[in-house]
Amino acid sequence: MKQLSELRSRRWFDDVGMRGFAHRQRMQQYGARREDVMERPMVAIINTWSDLSPCHAHLRERAESVKRGILMAGGFPVELPAMSLGEVLVKPTTMLYRNFLAMEVEELLRSLPCDAVVLLAGCDKTTPGTLMGAISMDIPTLFCPAGPMLNDRHVQNGVTRCIGAGTHTRMFWDDHQAGTLSAAALIELEARMTRSPGTCNTMGTASTLTSMVDALGLCLPGASSIPAMDSAHTRMATSCGKRIVQMIWEDLKPSRILTRGSFQNAVAVQMALGGSTNAAIHVIALARRAGIALTLADLDAIGRDMAVLVNVFPTGERLMEDFYYAGGLLGLMKTIESRLSLDELSVTGTTLRANLALAQVQDAEVIRPLHNPASAKGALAVLYGNLAPDGAVLKPSAATDRLMTHTGRALVFDSQADMLKAMADETLDCDENTVLVLRNAGPVGAPGMPEWGNLPIPAKLLKLGVRDMLRLSDARMSGTHYGTCVLHIAPEAAVGGPLALVQTGDLIELDVAKRLLQVHVSDDELERRRALWRAPAQSVQRGFTRLYQDHVTQANEGCDFDFLEGTAATPEPDIF
Ligand code: FES
Repeated sequence: MKQLSELRSRRWFDDVGMRGFAHRQRMQQYGARREDVMERPMVAIINTWSDLSPCHAHLRERAESVKRGILMAGGFPVELPAMSLGEVLVKPTTMLYRNFLAMEVEELLRSLPCDAVVLLAGCDKTTPGTLMGAISMDIPTLFCPAGPMLNDRHVQNGVTRCIGAGTHTRMFWDDHQAGTLSAAALIELEARMTRSPGTCNTMGTASTLTSMVDALGLCLPGASSIPAMDSAHTRMATSCGKRIVQMIWEDLKPSRILTRGSFQNAVAVQMALGGSTNAAIHVIALARRAGIALTLADLDAIGRDMAVLVNVFPTGERLMEDFYYAGGLLGLMKTIESRLSLDELSVTGTTLRANLALAQVQDAEVIRPLHNPASAKGALAVLYGNLAPDGAVLKPSAATDRLMTHTGRALVFDSQADMLKAMADETLDCDENTVLVLRNAGPVGAPGMPEWGNLPIPAKLLKLGVRDMLRLSDARMSGTHYGTCVLHIAPEAAVGGPLALVQTGDLIELDVAKRLLQVHVSDDELERRRALWRAPAQSVQRGFTRLYQDHVTQANEGCDFDFLEGTAATPEPDIF
């Protein structure tokens, strides 16, 4: 058992010199009693709430619940705001700022007298961002997920459909572009599709990642599935507060919980969920922060062996609320128990085996048994070839069967602006077999690797009823979206990856079964083109964006900063 005198915060408050006098004085200025800071461990609550992060609109209230739990358990809570990163409103993309948030969390915890931390987050980048920082600090850490928003229903042509955020945004927009959904209906949907605070209720990046963090052992078991507006969510937040104080005395830190086995469990969950392709980047970044070598090849190997069992959009037909009622993450993990490493430790101080002892599936239509998957095609395929020497990803369960083996003529765009303009052009030279290619949209090129990889279907083809085409890019795609989209091509075009050398008219071949992505151009011709290639000029010369472009790693490496990976500790601050 750890003793109070051994905690970090003691270096601030037990100091016998003038600094200690000043530290205690300032806490009393805040309203804390002397005994609060002298006799209790200090627990940070890092809160990613803001008015421009609607998915986290309830996290201010949840912070109060966490505080209540901390006080009940004998700790002293302090709430620290961090960059909120509301996914849809942040421009150019939250991915540009994931590492910013990770640095902010790490440095908040390092520079302040924190003995442990509860992370309040859930919208896409806030989960990996907060955790990357906490893993690097390696103090007791508990992740309190924001939880998914409520479901909604929509009646179209007399048929009632279950609708949620993300997946249906693209569907309804395509219907509107094709002239089958009126402007009035679109305005009505605008007000109804995101019904409550909470994260997207499809199996997008948010729900995929919070579930994976739960599977890693960093949440109270099953917490990730609780809807944001359920009273169980408030109780869970209070329990987080109580448990984190116990974790301090047990010295239960991320380095004791995170192992190769726990990361393999998280990846198995990603596959069984039919999770977002974005998770491939974030889970590698998290593992590298923990000093664990997890690669795209590892993800592909686990993915080949795991069908999608969860019948939730975009692979299936239901939403996260239904997943919770069906047994949630624990029900799913019970179903795939034979594929998991059950001796891994969690924040409970017990093993996954113990945490799953009472888990069960309540609705086998939503959480399918192994013999009746929601999709046998798998959630992730990692592709290699002369177009992607370091890998690219595709989500088979969200793709079209006829395009899984496909060769077509490339139509190449150097920028998103050019691409969007062309898509509206009724005379665009393309058909349903054309391969749409967008480049300079990767980590360095965009910069920040935005979710542009779900390239829109050209307007003239939408009107002909085409809803999917083979699309390639070095960008990412929203986890709520669907389509035959090859993403994260590495190395990206902006750093000279082969994608930079493709020309309109080249033949591109995709063969998912063979994990192959190649352009039918000879090596000699590619070398000739390479000699003529010039890197795009960096448009930003200062600030965080410049730092990002200079230090971000490629998608197959997790897009972290090269100077933040690994487990080498940054020295604690000299407090005198
Ligand atoms: Fe916040 Fe989807 S926009 S989780």
